[in-house]
Amino acid sequence: MSKRFERLEKCYKCFKEKIDFTPDVALILGSGLGDYADGIKQEAVLEYSEIEGFPVSTVAGHKGRFVFGYVGDVKVVIMQGRVHYYEGYSMEDVVLPVRLMKLMGAKILFLTNAAGGVNFDYHAGDFMLISDQICMAPSPLIGENIDELGVRFPDMSNIYDKDLRSVVRNTAKALDIPLREGVYIQLTGPNYESPAEIRMVRTMGADAVGMSTACEAIAANHCGLKTVGISCISNMACGITDQPLTHAEVQETADRAAPLFRKLVTESVIKLAETLK
Ligand code: HPA
Repeated sequence: MSKRFERLEKCYKCFKEKIDFTPDVALILGSGLGDYADGIKQEAVLEYSEIEGFPVSTVAGHKGRFVFGYVGDVKVVIMQGRVHYYEGYSMEDVVLPVRLMKLMGAKILFLTNAAGGVNFDYHAGDFMLISDQICMAPSPLIGENIDELGVRFPDMSNIYDKDLRSVVRNTAKALDIPLREGVYIQLTGPNYESPAEIRMVRTMGADAVGMSTACEAIAANHCGLKTVGISCISNMACGITDQPLTHAEVQETADRAAPLFRKLVTESVIKLAETLK
């Protein structure tokens, strides 16, 4: 057994000893949706610090835990507190939670984030269904392959599952929530981009830019976890307006969009779970 899988198994054992719950849908939620887990019917909570070998933040006051419960009658696990590459973790650490949620039994991974709008047609407060991605951070699959999870050279032609995207698209339509569709690019951060970098990523085909998600989606595809993702456009990317970017602005817009985002996520989870029946 590979060392990397051994570490994962240890984490899984810690989970299994404490929690008797098999989620169908796993959620990793971005800025603005951080409190989503507080509003669902909770069955159990597992602090990251209780899991042996789990990447625990060195940042003081950082909260992190898995919440297990129900969205409608769908069994979910929600990550309250994401692990970001810019915090200094290895990519292996960043995607460990994704792999662990796969081992927990999740069949679908639902990713959300706050992102900067690169496409000139976008506005702050828009939602974008992620159709495809560009990962400019290092691949989380670098290093010894975890053969127990997936192949060395995995296909990435359908990272955001076509059928699941169609479910989310139809859900948004039924709720009358406008939903754009585009390509997400992940840069490492933590600095926001320069105007020249935003021109570059637009030329490359990106519609929205952020500092998470793409690496998680790669790890999910590697281990056979079907993936879907939505970005909340929290700001227009650098250089589009002459305003400097601040985290406060990103947070504020994401918070304002949160009620609608919550509704879209809740209904989508219910509809996505129907595809598992
Ligand atoms: N750039 C990168 N990441 C982000 C942005 C941005 O403009 N907004 C929210 N996350």
